[in-house]
Amino acid sequence: MMQLPHDPVVAIVGATGAVGREMLAILEERAFPARSLRLFASPRSAGMRIPFRGGSVVVESLDSGAAIEGIHLALFSAGKGISKEWGPRFREAGTLVVDNSSAFRADPACPLVVPEVNPHALEAVRSPAIIANPNCSTIIALVAVTPLHRALGVERMVAATYQAASGAGAAAMAELESQARAFAAGTPLDTTIFGRQYLFNVFSHNSAVGDDGSNEEERKLLTETRRMWESDAVRVAATCVRVPTLRAHAEAIHLEFARATSEGEIRALLAAAPGVRVVDDRAANRFPEPLDAAGGDDVLVGRIRMDQSVPGARGAALFVCGDQIRKGAALNAIQIAERFLPASSPTRASAPATGAAHAALTAR
Ligand SMILES: NC(=O)c1ccc[n+]([C@@H]2O[C@H](COP(=O)([O-])OP(=O)(O)OC[C@H]3O[C@@H](n4cnc5c(N)ncnc54)[C@H](OP(=O)(O)O)[C@@H]3O)[C@@H](O)[C@H]2O)c1
Repeated sequence: MMQLPHDPVVAIVGATGAVGREMLAILEERAFPARSLRLFASPRSAGMRIPFRGGSVVVESLDSGAAIEGIHLALFSAGKGISKEWGPRFREAGTLVVDNSSAFRADPACPLVVPEVNPHALEAVRSPAIIANPNCSTIIALVAVTPLHRALGVERMVAATYQAASGAGAAAMAELESQARAFAAGTPLDTTIFGRQYLFNVFSHNSAVGDDGSNEEERKLLTETRRMWESDAVRVAATCVRVPTLRAHAEAIHLEFARATSEGEIRALLAAAPGVRVVDDRAANRFPEPLDAAGGDDVLVGRIRMDQSVPGARGAALFVCGDQIRKGAALNAIQIAERFLPASSPTRASAPATGAAHAALTAR
């Protein structure tokens, strides 16, 4: 596996966006050992100064004049088109790229990775490459479900998502906030982003709907799960909708296993799972909520129960919440990057051992 220098030069592409700004915050929080930072965005943001480590960094325009040599690591979050155009250019300039868009998720040359799920997929990376971050709903679901899959063999997963405004970027969050202010003031609502009232509403996810009636977000849950679990056997069905929460997605997940299990076994597996925090207080009716997940690293898991509609004690149901700007995007990308730091680096991730995780996944 290739290694970054102990103090890499790091770039963020899309630094002014919802994910890019979170990346900056997480690099600081985790004391990522960046020697220096380059920030790129559209020409609109060129010259803007963004605070970092007590100082500030000037945003550069990513255009034909951009000098991209000498960057060891680039974290991309500027949309699919920019990733397709610039990801290969950075790689050819010797940069390890971690990309948040959907541009490379199905490309066999680009590992698709969640460190808690399939860290072993990074071992094949021996020279600068593009590594894809999965879709945010897939990341949040699989952090919770993969430990159950390793032990019990998930044969079928049915998910209903409740997706926040933040998943559609900084402008969508601003529009939901502005709709709340306008509603309170009794003035017309700005509907530029989604073309409809978002406040007090729920609507089907804003990605393209295919001929089979599924939208792209729903298809990603199937294709990305299969790719990371290295098996086409799992059956996945999803319904993805937007709800008027600002930040952090929720998902109701129903699972069918290969063998019989018990609520106790499922609870024990989840309690031991990295990146998972069980929030399940039946007496107090406290379960995962987006407001509690927002700003945190863990995927919250609760409403843990057997699914009585599956015979033979082979079914379970969960409700999960995760901050999709963090674990669904920025944090996952930085956790991937940490894997490439020298083993002696103090910020090197403490995710499960690569070999053990792979063996358990592929034993299915
Ligand atoms: N939001 C999430 O939870 C989430 C989760 C997973 C993946 N993603 C993916 O991450 C990417 C960014 O999402 P986001 O939510 O952060 O969006 P966002 O808030 O709209 O930010 C978009 C970023 O891209 C930059 N950009 C736009 N056009 C550009 C250009 N021509 N050249 C260079 N930079 C350009 C913007 O710069 P300006 O400010 O200068 O316009 C901004 O920094 C998308 O691919 C998205 O699918 C997002």
